[in-house]
Amino acid sequence: MRYSLCVLLLLFSVARTISPFSHSDRYTRSDHLLRRRPQEYFEVTHPLPSGHAIPSCSHQILRHSFGNTINSPPFSTSYSPPSRCPAPWSRVILHFHATCKGEQYDRIAGLWLGGVELLRTSTAQPTQSGIFWDVRKDVTRYSSLLVRSDLKLTMMLENIVNREFTGVYHVTITLLYFKGHAVGVPFRVCSQGQGLNLNRNGSLRILKDESGSDSETPDGISQVGEEKGESNVRQGSFYMSESPADLIIPISDEGNRGFWFRIESDLDLHSKRIQIPPNTYRAVLELYVSYHGNDEFWYSNPPNSYIKTNNLDTGRGNGAYREVYVAIDGEIVGSEIPFPVIFTGGVNPLFWEPMVAIGAFNLPSYDLDLTPFLGKLLDGKKHNFAIGVTQGISYWFVNANLHLWLDPHSSEVHAHRIVHHGPELTLERQEEFIGLDGTFEIEAERQTQSAGWVSSSSGNITTIISQGVKLKNRISFRQNGTYKLVKQHFKVKKRIKIINGRGELITQLKVKKKYPLRVITSMQPSLHKDRYILVTNVSHALKERYSDSGGCFRNSISNNQNSMGWMEVKDHSVLSGQAFTRQNYTFHDKLDCYSRNVAAANGRIVEDISSFACQP
Ligand SMILES: *[C@@H]1O[C@H](CO)[C@@H](O)[C@H](O)[C@H]1NC(C)=O
Ligand SMILES: *[C@@H]1O[C@H](CO)[C@@H](O)[C@H](O)[C@H]1NC(C)=O
Ligand SMILES: *[C@@H]1O[C@H](CO)[C@@H](O)[C@H](O)[C@H]1NC(C)=O
Ligand SMILES: *[C@@H]1O[C@H](CO)[C@@H](O)[C@H](O)[C@H]1NC(C)=O
Ligand SMILES: *[C@@H]1O[C@H](CO)[C@@H](O)[C@H](O)[C@H]1NC(C)=O
Repeated sequence: MRYSLCVLLLLFSVARTISPFSHSDRYTRSDHLLRRRPQEYFEVTHPLPSGHAIPSCSHQILRHSFGNTINSPPFSTSYSPPSRCPAPWSRVILHFHATCKGEQYDRIAGLWLGGVELLRTSTAQPTQSGIFWDVRKDVTRYSSLLVRSDLKLTMMLENIVNREFTGVYHVTITLLYFKGHAVGVPFRVCSQGQGLNLNRNGSLRILKDESGSDSETPDGISQVGEEKGESNVRQGSFYMSESPADLIIPISDEGNRGFWFRIESDLDLHSKRIQIPPNTYRAVLELYVSYHGNDEFWYSNPPNSYIKTNNLDTGRGNGAYREVYVAIDGEIVGSEIPFPVIFTGGVNPLFWEPMVAIGAFNLPSYDLDLTPFLGKLLDGKKHNFAIGVTQGISYWFVNANLHLWLDPHSSEVHAHRIVHHGPELTLERQEEFIGLDGTFEIEAERQTQSAGWVSSSSGNITTIISQGVKLKNRISFRQNGTYKLVKQHFKVKKRIKIINGRGELITQLKVKKKYPLRVITSMQPSLHKDRYILVTNVSHALKERYSDSGGCFRNSISNNQNSMGWMEVKDHSVLSGQAFTRQNYTFHDKLDCYSRNVAAANGRIVEDISSFACQP
């Protein structure tokens, strides 16, 4: 977030003439609430096994203070797995801990192992008495890298420290390695087995609870995470009970400025040529995405016509439609509309203390199943993988991890695509404005279908993926542009059918996601000429549901946050205000349920009830 200075200048001009473009901006909070002790910040999420079970070992892999790191290369250190508890592990949890004190903007950070991203996170804004927070993330799916000792661990966190911004972020990262079944509940999904998995033979099979154990693949890379029938719930993404990929190839930058590609415009396409092993039978591309600068609040950007006609001094335009897409050799194979994560300085920073917005500490990544496209990739040649942002403006940080599963019993797998419809997009825009007041609407819809077969030592498996995406976005300005309402509805329905060589349906997975968002900002004059008051309301949610036809999986997450309040702002600084945030989180699967309801008022928790015995 190197544009903090520009933001500052923009706000100076805004504070004098009340116009809509102080809305949706970034602020730092001045310390109106004096505390004696450092305060803990957190993101409400599902508890990870580190909360219940004792790891076989824990291993600190990074410790660094991020001071004035702007324009410097990222911090790098070598990684090696712990010798005290060698692989295989059943689960690996990353534990990120940070402390900070002083005044500072929120910052974005990325963590990579061998160029493969493990975590995208943003920081909380510190206070004079200090803050700290912990992020725990299941990183078992990166096991093929975690067993290696020839890789560099890299973290990028660009920060500015000077006389005004004093906060230095002190970070430690520890990995917790678990063995055996100690970490089963509450992650178990299928008590009667039937998790779809591939055995060590490479063949597709239906898992039974009593069968199988951790194993070594022929090339000595340990298979981990074979807890039977376990699912893995992550915010914003999910993968069914499958072993971690055998190989992960980064589709990322060289690393001198972090491994993310920096995307500045619609035409800015970044790519990497990669060759995949000829015995790959499954491929999933995991996208990591964050948006900054003029696109930090892309879902609330009006069209350029509005900005131009009103002579507004802002770069936050280009309308409110964005999509991150992936192309292989020039052909678009998938796209994602990201979940709108609000960083801790966004809209009203008082809303995000001490619980941050959904996804702020652990940004969701997005899985695109590329298995139907393997026919294109198994020719032993290099292929061009490119990532871009439709209508994106400066700037986005995107990169991807290509997870590949290899057939241990064959040096060659055959594959062919059957269909690929789409991804045609219907996009309708309506705009209507007089002066600073008006309404802008976008309706977008996309239906895609892709199918392909892969013939490996486990037989001829056909994967059919159908996806429907709908987005509605409406931005209204009223009261001469000082009142702004943003409403967005986003819905995805995805169906994955797996069919065997005899044409029989092995399983069908269904995924549904909804990300509703509503943001209201109303700007009002303050008694002080150099200040203004912003009354703000935010409500947003992340709802996801996964199920399969065999009745094995039925997982759902519902994560809702509602905030309201106001703040008085001078320059970039929040001088006073009131904020109330209520969050309720529910996760349930066939066996377990977890819920947590939290409410915070003016930076203090006023209610916090969690339960493992909720009603699914
Ligand atoms: C509306 O806002 C503009 C720009 O801030 C200002 O020039 C204009 O006088 C305002 N109009 C009214 C009716 O308040
Ligand atoms: C391995 O796969 C073959 C089919 O490709 C099958 O005939 C054989 O029984 C499998 N072996 C094991 C141990 O599962
Ligand atoms: C695999 O199955 C598909 C669809 O049934 C078929 O068209 C294809 O020829 C099969 N491939 C092989 C190698 O048998
Ligand atoms: C914010 O929400 C509250 C409660 O629903 C409502 O009373 C208030 O008017 C809203 N504020 C704005 C600016 O719309
Ligand atoms: C959770 O929040 C949503 C949205 O505010 C609300 O509709 C729902 O009733 C809440 N559920 C609980 C259990 O509080």
